[in-house]
Amino acid sequence: MTSPFDLSKPIAIGSDHAGFDYKEELISFLEGKGLPFEDFGTHSKDSVDYPDFAHPVANAVESGNYAFGILLCGTANGVAITANKHQGIRAAICWGDEIAKLVRQHNDANIICIPARFVREGDAEKMVSTFITTEFEGGRHANRVNKIACG
Ligand code: RB5
Repeated sequence: MTSPFDLSKPIAIGSDHAGFDYKEELISFLEGKGLPFEDFGTHSKDSVDYPDFAHPVANAVESGNYAFGILLCGTANGVAITANKHQGIRAAICWGDEIAKLVRQHNDANIICIPARFVREGDAEKMVSTFITTEFEGGRHANRVNKIACG
């Protein structure tokens, strides 16, 4: 698989209880593709708090030791709001394949956030596949991305 990400590094993946089933499906998908990953939890459908999983995934991606991140919760908003508190993170909510492509091309997103209660399982896999393989376009988009960070 050709990717702009360094796929010799693991993909960081995490979810809350609402995203648990899709996380497990996506892990099977990554295993099927032979892609390394680290599962930051949650590990069951018991109710949990999404920041407890979004912060560790964001820290992992920020560290540079992971290729990119995948986060899931019910709407994707909780995990995206949390992850985007990290200066080095551009966490993008995706609900369709075209969005997954555009957040890579235009926003250089490094975490894909999937709303598990609002997308179909197969769509989640397709979005992750598109996210992995799509290059950032740079140029005018780089000017904009370079203005995002605070401080
Ligand atoms: C959990 O019920 C739900 O609030 C959470 O998964 C997420 O949608 C929050 O943004």
